[in-house]
This record gives sequence, structure tokens and C-alpha cells, in this order.
Amino acid sequence: MKNLTGKKILLIICGGISAYKSLELIRLFKKQGSEIKTILTKSAKEFVTPLSVASLTQEKVYDDLFNAENEAEMDHISLSRWADLILVAPATANTISKLSVGSSDDLASTVILASDKDVFLVPAMNVRMWEHPSTRENLNKLRSFGYRVIGPEIGDMACGEFGEGKMTEPKSIIEEINIYFNSVTNNNKFKALITAGPTNEYIDPVRFITNKSSGKQGYALANAFAKKGFQTTLISGPTNLPIGENINLIKVETAQEMLQATKKNLPADVAIFSAAVADFKVKEIKSEKIKKNENLNLELEKNIDILNYVSKHNSLRPKLVIGFAAETNEIETNAKKKLVEKNCDWVVANDVSNKSIGFDSDFNEVSIFYKDDEIKDEKLSLKQKSAISEEIVNRVIQQLN
Ligand code: PMT
Repeated sequence: MKNLTGKKILLIICGGISAYKSLELIRLFKKQGSEIKTILTKSAKEFVTPLSVASLTQEKVYDDLFNAENEAEMDHISLSRWADLILVAPATANTISKLSVGSSDDLASTVILASDKDVFLVPAMNVRMWEHPSTRENLNKLRSFGYRVIGPEIGDMACGEFGEGKMTEPKSIIEEINIYFNSVTNNNKFKALITAGPTNEYIDPVRFITNKSSGKQGYALANAFAKKGFQTTLISGPTNLPIGENINLIKVETAQEMLQATKKNLPADVAIFSAAVADFKVKEIKSEKIKKNENLNLELEKNIDILNYVSKHNSLRPKLVIGFAAETNEIETNAKKKLVEKNCDWVVANDVSNKSIGFDSDFNEVSIFYKDDEIKDEKLSLKQKSAISEEIVNRVIQQLN
């Protein structure tokens, strides 16, 4: 069986001279047994006709955001949900620019913006356009959002110039997509457990101790693991975040509940502890709401440390235990201390004194410290939490294999 059999590919064709190659791409996907739906941008129709695309895909061609018939049959949200993967080939400088600013003024850009699937861009343009700093900056931004880029290649161009900007050949694109799905299939055998969000430690029936964690980092990790084919369990404290596909979500409230859920869902191959578990809880939870005029004296005690419990447990400990370290100062020293004291294989440290990353931000910047001296500690520069997560998952896959 080929890796692409039954895979649902949404191919977005933009307006460039290399759009003709997308016809060969469709033929190759069909030969591999993929299901393929297509969107043509307005300018793509200047280069390939909807009729030729429809003949090859034997499917309706989508081209208009404001088409009532299309929307009734499969609206733009369903189209983005239907796909296993979105491929933009050729991706023009204009489309790349639009995607980098989150524009949604046509069907193609709207579907991509509304999608939670992996997006592959296959740029094709004149060498000067490709080398232009704005194109470079736009692509770097898209990479930081987690978009993948195939090519372009160096060679003679249709415009008569020579250089980098040629669209990658359809056969090589198919190979790249095969590698992608192959790794997803290989990872099916692995189990990942992630803790996320804050915990609430009750004082009385309506009040609790908590913290600023939104759960974004942990949810992004769970999404990245699930997308890469892991059997993924996410144990989450209270958050308002939507959950991605193929994730076994277990909602908890207190650290004690998080520990119980964690124990119940082990063993796993990898566990990542990104939750900001409240370090303290009140010794005695009042059974009735504390009155304003009561003389309040709360006695706190240390909460159970979930990471510590799991990492030192003989039978429950996963092969790979990854702790997070939320630090405000002496990040390296403190993170390395946690690496040893909490018996982790890796610690991912973030600077939570910086308001634009860490708690409740969509972005993060982390340093990874490894127990194994043979692996060099490293820094992942400022990126969306989804992109940071993808980089972490890639390293986990390398390690587990
Ligand atoms: O949720 P977001 O808004 O996206 O923010 C992300 C984050 C900043 C919360 C996340 O990136 C992060 O740093 N998570 C760890 C927060 C934390 O509690 O760090 P810590 O240094 O206090 O704890 C070290 C490790 O022990 C962590 O893996 C933590 O999950 C774990 N721990 C801590 C206390 C405890 N009682 N049980 C634990 O398991």
C-alpha cells in the first residue's frame, strides 16, 4: 500500500506560469490513490482552466468564496476540515504575502486561515521576486507559524532568467508528502501524555488559588503530537481552549485530580509536563463560603509534584520525561537544577518575566536542556507556540527512534 492511498489532499493552485505543473501533480496524487479537491485562485484560471483540473480530479473545482452553490455543498470551513493536508502549488509571492498577514479576501486564503491542518507551500516565482527581502520576511514569518516550504529550485525560468525560484518538480513534491505521511504512520505506535493549563486549589466552595496559565503551550504540544500520528492524551486544567483532532482530552481542576488522571493514562513513551500546577494548596478547604467578616487565616501546604512523582516512579516512568521550567531569573541555573532534582531527560525553560512570551501569549522562546551530555543544549527563538511545539515533537521523534 502506498502512503498516499486514501489521503485527502486539498490542492490550492495560484496564478503563475508553473501552474501547468499542478496538473501533473494531480495525476500523480490520483495514481497514488489520494482523494484530491482543488481551489483555483482568480489568477490561476489565467494559466489553467477549471475544466482541465476537474477532468483530472473528477471533482468539482472550488474558486469562489461567495458562491452560494459551493457554500451549500461544502462550505469553506468544511473544505478546510475535510483535508488531511493543504498543498499550495504553485505558491506565488502574492499569496505568500497575503498568508503572512492573515488576509482572507478569497476562498484560498480563507480556507488556509480557517484550517488547523498542516500547510505545505511550493513557491514559484521570478528569481528577483524570490530574493526580495519582503518575500524572505513573509516566508520566515509563515515558517514561524508552522507552514512547511518545498523548494524552490535553481534553474532556467520561463521568463528567460536563471536562478532560484523554479517550482519543485511534481515527482519530488510527491516524495516530500510521502515522507511526511510516512512519519505520521510510523509514530502511531507511540503514546504521548501532556499536562497543560493551571490548576485550581479550592479555599472554599467558590474561591481558589490559581495562576495565569492559559494552557496554550500544552494544547499546542498536544496538537503537534496528534498531527504527527502519536496517540495523544492531554490532561488539562481549566482553560477555554478548543481541542484539536485525535486528542484524548481529560479535563481536571486540582493538582490531585491531575495526578490521578496522569497515573491512569500511563504508561506512555513520552510525557511532557507543561502545566503550571499550583505549588500550594490550603491545608483545610472550608466546606462553606467564607464570610467577609470572618477572621481569615489561611494555612497553606505544598501540593503534590506530579512531574516529580512520575519521573521517579519505577514502573510508571515513560522513556522520555520532559519538564517545563517557568523562570524569571537565572534561567539556565534554575532549569538545570530542575533537570537533576526532578529526574527529567529534558527541561524546556521559558522566561516568564517577559510579558510577550510564556504565560497566556501565543508566542514562546525556549531553551532546551538535556540530561544526556552528548546532546548540546539549545535555544528555540521566538515563534508561535505551535511552531515551538512542532520543533519539540521533531526532537522527541528523533529521540524515540
Ligand atoms: O499555559 P500558557 O499560558 O500557554 O503558558 C505556558 C507556561 C508558561 C505555563 C509553560 O510554558 C510552562 O512554563 N509550564 C511550566 C510551569 C511551571 O509550573 O513551571 P515550574 O518551573 O514551577 O515547574 C517545573 C515543572 O514541574 C513543570 O514541568 C511543571 O509542570 C511541573 N510541576 C510543578 C509543580 C507541581 N506541583 N507539579 C508539577 O508537575
